[in-house]
Amino acid sequence: MTDLAEARDVDPGKYLQGLGQRRMAIASPCEDTVTMAADAATRALQGFDIDPAEIGTLIVGTETGVDHSKPVAVYVHELLGLDQRCRTFETKHACYGAMAGLTASMDWIGSGRARGRKALVIASDIARYGLKTAGEPTQGAGAVAMVIAEDPRLLAIDPQRIGDYTRQVMDFWRPLYSKYAFADGHYSIQCYLDALAGARVDAVGEEAELLAGLGACLYHVPFVKMAFKAHQRHLEMEYGGPLSKDHTEAWRMLTDSYQRLAAPWLGLNAEIGNIYTGSLFLALIDLLRQAAEGLAGREISLFSYGSGCGATYCIGRIGDRAAHWREALDPAEQLAARRRLSIEEYEGLIGDTEQADTVERLDPARYGLDGGLYYVGTRDHRRQYSRG
Ligand code: CAA
Repeated sequence: MTDLAEARDVDPGKYLQGLGQRRMAIASPCEDTVTMAADAATRALQGFDIDPAEIGTLIVGTETGVDHSKPVAVYVHELLGLDQRCRTFETKHACYGAMAGLTASMDWIGSGRARGRKALVIASDIARYGLKTAGEPTQGAGAVAMVIAEDPRLLAIDPQRIGDYTRQVMDFWRPLYSKYAFADGHYSIQCYLDALAGARVDAVGEEAELLAGLGACLYHVPFVKMAFKAHQRHLEMEYGGPLSKDHTEAWRMLTDSYQRLAAPWLGLNAEIGNIYTGSLFLALIDLLRQAAEGLAGREISLFSYGSGCGATYCIGRIGDRAAHWREALDPAEQLAARRRLSIEEYEGLIGDTEQADTVERLDPARYGLDGGLYYVGTRDHRRQYSRG
């Protein structure tokens, strides 16, 4: 963030403290929504000892599709070797796609249609705002894979306390002709906060006083400071009015509550940037890798927001043995293996990515990549993937 701020002639404090970001993940042209989704899902199935044959529904939530028609999910289905008797589709609603997939999977299980099988829900996205835009420091790339089961090991969401919210707004969108998002940034923050209030009321009613009993509050995190703004609105709903810096006591109550319930789980978001539909679940991973033991059996809140806009607020309970899976879900090793890019390299990657969909042959080695699953070009209008 400091390198980027200096290159853009901005005080680094704006990105580091003002937005709360430290680094951002950049995908090379050989990494796309498919490769990231398949990679995350492979780690989830192997790390949690889940037989791919148990998966009866596969949903990929993304707003970074690779085709107007063909879903990312069907590539992932083949790459994971899932059973053909599997319902497979892609969900798109900006950063809300994966939460939509998660609640649809819960409904699938609750209806009895799953017949003992599990659902695999993957959030996979690349945030692109373009060079020298206000959104540039909030870019990121990544995927989170989740297995939804009747008896969850990590988190059980309460179907009686899920609230939804929808309103047509132009706060952030990606037109068909653009790889880059357009955002009315400050308006999008207002839309997010309104959606939080609306979805929370739908989930638990106007009068609920939850925060004193919750072990954590997780939010969609387009940038870390947004989680503070969200927590402020969350607390204001229970406090009964606006909290401002002018009222020292009330402000201290807010900052204490934020430090206890939200801030500790924002480390991955600060290190990776906005991964759109996976951002909320990145915060969940951060919570589980640090505090699954201490929060075992405790309730937490989760808020997912997708521009445009749609949102869900829900309450879940951390599993009693969730800490057992800490190593399987901690991405520390992958993060440590990242390579620092110079601004010239970063801008070069962005330029190459603009052409990547129409290039016939892409060489992962050119980007220092080896040993993984990569997108290697489009031949005869068909995307090609290869394991290096
Ligand atoms: N030191 C410390 N802080 C500084 C600073 C400095 N030198 N300079 C500025 N700041 C602070 C500002 O005071 C501000 O903090 P507050 O919000 O607490 O007042 C913060 O840094 C950001 O400054 P600006 O508001 O001036 O920044 P900006 O207008 O250039 O851009 C943005 C901010 C609008 C969020 C922009 O990054 C953007 O458009 N992002 C994409 C849209 C987005 O993320 N929206 C979020 C809600 S929508 C959503 O959640 C869906 C999604 O994923 C996109």
